[in-house]
Amino acid sequence: MAKGRRFHNRQKSFAQKRREKSQNKEKPRTDTRQNYAEIVRENKDFEQYYKAQKICPEAEWDSMLESLKKDLPTAFRITNCSPGEAKALLSIVESKFFKELVNDQETSEEEKVAPICMPWYPERMGWQLQLSRKDIRRSQAYSKLHQFLILETAGGNTSRQEAVSMIPPLLLDVQTHHKVLDMCAAPGSKTAQIIEMIHAADSNPVPSGLVVANDVDNNRCYMLVHQAKRLNSPCAIITNHDASVMPNVLYTNEEGQKVPMKFDRVLCDVPCTGDGTMRKNPDIWTKWTPSNGNNLHGIQYRIVKRGVEMLAVGGKIAYSTCSLNPLEDEAVIQRLIVETQGAVQLVDVSQMVPALKYAPGLSHWKPASKDNLDGYNSFEEVPEKWHTQVRPSMFPTGDPSFHLERCLRLLPHQQDTGGFFIAVLEKVRPLPSEQTKIDREAAYKSNLATEQEAAANGTEEKCDVPADDGADVAEPLASSPSREPPSKKRKRQPQGFKEDPFVFFTEEEVVWPAIRDFYEISPSLPTDCLLTRCLVGKKKIIYFTSPMVKNIIQANEGNLKIINTGVKCFVRCDNKVMSCAFRLGQEGLSSLKSFIGEKRKVRVNREELITILNNSTPEHPTDLDKLRPETKQLLGRDDFGIGSCLLELQEEDLPLSIVGWRGKSSVRAYVSGNDLVHYLRLLGADVTKFEVNKFDKKKTSESELNEEDAENKETNSASADQAEGESTVESAVA
Ligand SMILES: C[S@@+](CC[C@H](N)C(=O)[O-])C[C@H]1O[C@@H](n2cnc3c(N)ncnc32)[C@H](O)[C@@H]1O
Repeated sequence: MAKGRRFHNRQKSFAQKRREKSQNKEKPRTDTRQNYAEIVRENKDFEQYYKAQKICPEAEWDSMLESLKKDLPTAFRITNCSPGEAKALLSIVESKFFKELVNDQETSEEEKVAPICMPWYPERMGWQLQLSRKDIRRSQAYSKLHQFLILETAGGNTSRQEAVSMIPPLLLDVQTHHKVLDMCAAPGSKTAQIIEMIHAADSNPVPSGLVVANDVDNNRCYMLVHQAKRLNSPCAIITNHDASVMPNVLYTNEEGQKVPMKFDRVLCDVPCTGDGTMRKNPDIWTKWTPSNGNNLHGIQYRIVKRGVEMLAVGGKIAYSTCSLNPLEDEAVIQRLIVETQGAVQLVDVSQMVPALKYAPGLSHWKPASKDNLDGYNSFEEVPEKWHTQVRPSMFPTGDPSFHLERCLRLLPHQQDTGGFFIAVLEKVRPLPSEQTKIDREAAYKSNLATEQEAAANGTEEKCDVPADDGADVAEPLASSPSREPPSKKRKRQPQGFKEDPFVFFTEEEVVWPAIRDFYEISPSLPTDCLLTRCLVGKKKIIYFTSPMVKNIIQANEGNLKIINTGVKCFVRCDNKVMSCAFRLGQEGLSSLKSFIGEKRKVRVNREELITILNNSTPEHPTDLDKLRPETKQLLGRDDFGIGSCLLELQEEDLPLSIVGWRGKSSVRAYVSGNDLVHYLRLLGADVTKFEVNKFDKKKTSESELNEEDAENKETNSASADQAEGESTVESAVA
C-alpha cells in the first residue's frame, strides 16, 4: 500500500504536510471558512436562470431560495461495519447517551442535537443533526459530539456524508456478487457505501463482488485509499484514470484468456458545478454563471458514455451530480439515450426510496448564455458566438418515451438537504457499436464455417476478415493489450508515476510456513491471494485480496494504473521471543479470522475485555492474575507462548474479535487508539478518560490532526502508514 517512491520526490511527503498543517493551526486562521460568513448569499443571474428552467414549482421558489441560503445540517450514517457493532452503535445514537455528548446541557440548545432519523435511509442507519459542521467544530458545547463523530468515522463505524450523497448507491441496488465500477470516486463516501454493500452478507468474509474505484486526480486517489482502508475490505481496487477514456478492466477467464470485464453496476458521480452544495460551499454564490454548466456538459456526457460501454447488458448505471442545472443533468441523460439509440433506458426507482421527497426530472429546459439567462427555445435562436458552448444536442427533444420524469432532483427545502440529481439507467441491449461488432463476428464465424466447408468440398472462396472498429464486446484478447474506447487515442501515462509492485505469494514463499504453523491457518485460505508491495528485501506487511481482485491485478499489469488494493493481515514485528515474525493486523481480521486455528484464540467475557482494553499500553498491560482462572490458565500455558493472539467475545448480540498480545505474564489489546475507544464504548464502558477537550487543550492533539481526515478533506492520508517502511512494532495505544 505504499505510494511510489519516485512520486514522493515530486510531492510533499505526508509527514511534511502533516507538520505544515500542525504549524498552520497555530497561526491565526484566515481561511475561506472565516470569509464564508461575509459572503453575500445572493446571485441574481442564478435566480433568473433557475426560475426560467422551472426546476421548482413557483409556490415553493421562496422556500427553496431561503433554504439554499442556510448552512447545511450535518448528516452521518452508521456503516455496516459488522451487524453486531452497527446495532450497538445505533442504540447509542438513539439513546440518552447521545444527547449527553453535549457538554453543557444548561447553555446549549439541547433539542438541536437530538439526531433525526432520515426516513428514507434503510434500517434507521442514516441520521441528521440540526447543526452545521461549523457549529459542531467551533462550539465547546459540542466537543464531545465532535469527537464521537471523528473517532467513529476514523474507525469506519460511521460515515459523515451529505444526506443526498447517500442516495446513488442505494438506488444502484448493489448485491454482494456484483462487480462495481465507481468512475469518479474521490473522496470516496459513495465508494465506502458500495464496499459495505458488497460485504452485506456477513457470513461470507470474502465476497465474490468487487469495487473498482477510480479518480483522475492522483492526490484524491489517496483519499480513496483512506476510505477503503477504514472498511478493511479485500474486494476494492483503486485506479487513477481519466474516466472518459478509461481502459477496459481485464480479467483472465476460465479458458485462460484475458477479456474485458463488463460491470454489473457503474456509478458516475461526475465532476459538476456543484451549485447544489451552496449551503456547504457558499463561495459558489459569487462564482455562478450559466456557462459553468454548459462547459461541463461535454465531459459529463463522455464519462457516462464510457460508463455505459463498460456496463454489462442487464446492468445498471447511476448518474449523479450535485448540481441543479438541467444542462448537467437531464440534457446529459437525454443525449445518452439518443446516442445509444435506446440501448440504455431510465429505470423507475420511486419505489426503492418511498419516503424520499424529490422533484421528477424535467422534460423541458432552456440552454442559456450569460447574455440570455432566460434561455433559448431552439438552437436556431443561439447567436453564433455561443455556438461552441451551446450545442444542438443540449436542447430537449420532448420525446416522452425517454421518461425523463424518472430522474430525481432533490431540492434543498424538501428535506433540508443540499441540492442533488440522480438518474438510474439499465442497459437493455448492446450499444450500437457493440452490436455491429457482434454482428461482424457472427458473420465472420459463419463465413469461416462456409469457407472451411468449401475447402473440404474443394470449392474455396475468398473471405474478408472484418476490420476491428474498436468496440469492446467481451471477446477474448490475444494477450494483454487492452483497447481504449472507440476513436480515442491511447493517452500516455503521466511521467513520474510509479507505484510499488503487487507481489503475490507463490508456493515457495519463505515467510509463510512459520505464519501458517503459528496461527494454525486452515489450508482453505487461498494463500496465493496474499501479497506484499516489495520485490526484494524484508517483507514487512502482508496484505490479502479476494481471488477476483488478484485476477484483475495480474491481468492488468501495464494496462491499468492501480494505486492500491488489499487489506493488511500480518505485520512484521520481529519480537525475539515470538516464534513467528509476524503479528496479526486488526484490519484483516474480518477476512481472516475464520481461517485462524483455535490455538491462538482466547475467549474472554465482557468484563475481561473491558479490563484488557483499559490497560493496553505496552508499559501497563493487564496482568494475567486479573483475569478469570480459566482465561489465565489458557493464556498462561507454556504451549500458548508469547506473541500475537486473538481475543474473542462471543456474546450473541455483540461478537467481537480483537488482536491481542500475550506477554510474559500479561495480555494487552493490539488495536489503534480509535478502535480502543470504539470497542469500550460498545461494551458500555466509561470512555471519558480518552476524551480530549480541544478547547481546554491548546496543544495540538492527535484527534485534531485527524479532524480533517474524518471530514474527507485531507489528501494522501493513507499513504503514510501503509508504506512498507511502517514501523515494525506499533504501540497498541497512542
Ligand atoms: C463529485 S466528485 C466525486 C465524489 C465522490 N463520488 C464521493 O462520493 O465521494 C467528482 C470527482 O471526479 C473527479 N474527476 C474529475 N474529472 C474526472 C475524469 N475525467 N475522470 C475521473 N474522475 C474525474 C474529481 O477529481 C472528483 O474527485
